[in-house]
Amino acid sequence: MILAENVTKSYTNGKTITPVLKGVSLRIKKGELAVILGASGSGKSTLLSVLSGLERADGGNITVSGENLSAMNEKQLTDFRKRKVGFVFQQYFLLPHLSVEGNVKLGAFLADNREYPEIIEALGLGDKKHSRPAELSGGEQQRVSIARALAKKPEILFLDEPTGALDENTGRSVLDYIAKLQTELGFTAVMVTHNPFAADMADSVIKMNSGNIAETYCNEVRKSAFEIGW
Ligand SMILES: Nc1ncnc2c1ncn2[C@@H]1O[C@H](COP(=O)(O)OP(=O)(O)O)[C@@H](O)[C@H]1O
Ligand SMILES: [Mg+2]
Repeated sequence: MILAENVTKSYTNGKTITPVLKGVSLRIKKGELAVILGASGSGKSTLLSVLSGLERADGGNITVSGENLSAMNEKQLTDFRKRKVGFVFQQYFLLPHLSVEGNVKLGAFLADNREYPEIIEALGLGDKKHSRPAELSGGEQQRVSIARALAKKPEILFLDEPTGALDENTGRSVLDYIAKLQTELGFTAVMVTHNPFAADMADSVIKMNSGNIAETYCNEVRKSAFEIGW
């Protein structure tokens, strides 16, 4: 379970302080798919980064599977991320000198996951596996970053706009694959998206508005990625 209580976070450029998270409280159950929606600049990426231990919140409390992130030092946070978390970044952050296979293997290596070639195939990257990131389109790079995170078999997967660079058909099949793996392996997934229809795929939906939670609700039935609007 992910539990956030009154979490605050500001950025400062030395002169001005910009409050980005203004007291966010939420609860995401183990094994759930949670979708976070909100306008650009509402703090979605910042929320993912504090929930996953990439960045430290300024105030409040964050507990993830019983571990209190707020009480950890940098080394403990790094160790926590290594053990538990997979992250699909909005900007991909692939390693430029490694091939597709090399990038995915790196994720797999952390979990000793021998099934990573299947993940590469499932994401439609089979004939690109020897290419370097610079030789790929944005959508292909995005799929590599998703494959890398899945290959780690994380306990919790955080995805920041994972279909932003994908066309509708590829986007739907990637989301479908993620949702299927999630059900099969039982990991928790927290996904930020700009597509409001993706909320219909979720167990729980969190809507953000200028650094606050505007609304949360649960769905009784999850729609598949091929049933939602786009
Ligand atoms: N590292 C940073 N330094 C300064 N300001 C930042 C930083 N990251 C985000 N911000 C600011 O915080 C606000 C929320 O950003 P973000 O969490 O990326 O929103 P979203 O993902 O919802 O678009 C924006 O106004 C953004 O400019
Ligand atoms: Mg963002």
